[in-house]
Amino acid sequence: MKLAIGCDHGGFELKEEVVKFLKAMGNIQVEDCGVAGKDSVDYPDYGRKVSEAVARGEAERGILICGTGIGMSIVANRYPQVRAALCHDHFTAQMSREHNDANILVMGERVIGKGVALEIVKTWLETPFAGGRHQLRLNKIADIGKAIK
Ligand code: RB5
Repeated sequence: MKLAIGCDHGGFELKEEVVKFLKAMGNIQVEDCGVAGKDSVDYPDYGRKVSEAVARGEAERGILICGTGIGMSIVANRYPQVRAALCHDHFTAQMSREHNDANILVMGERVIGKGVALEIVKTWLETPFAGGRHQLRLNKIADIGKAIK
């Protein structure tokens, strides 16, 4: 699977850990969209790189990390093709896949620790979408995307 990952300075250290974790999994092609250091940057610049890769189908999934995860969530969910989920624990990661078919995972480095974050990533990658009634709800979300020009 191809996965694009990006962060701002507030998510840099956790992004580096997640990239290492993903590469060690062996079955993920990781596209690191930056940022490459801890100097202050603007999260929309990095949020859009990952969101656009997913929206264009260049990456099947994406991961975004900032300080709280909130800014990156706002950016990513501007794209109608993106379903970005800000997850704080195993349960929200599992539900974001089963119920929402989230294609971008968002986390806040200043909110959760590394251990919880890596557990979230593993759960999020391994949990399938449940489909059924949840697909009908996603169709309604897609209709909203089409209705607003
Ligand atoms: C950067 O200080 C911080 O605002 C950013 O990482 C993020 O938390 C925004 O939502």
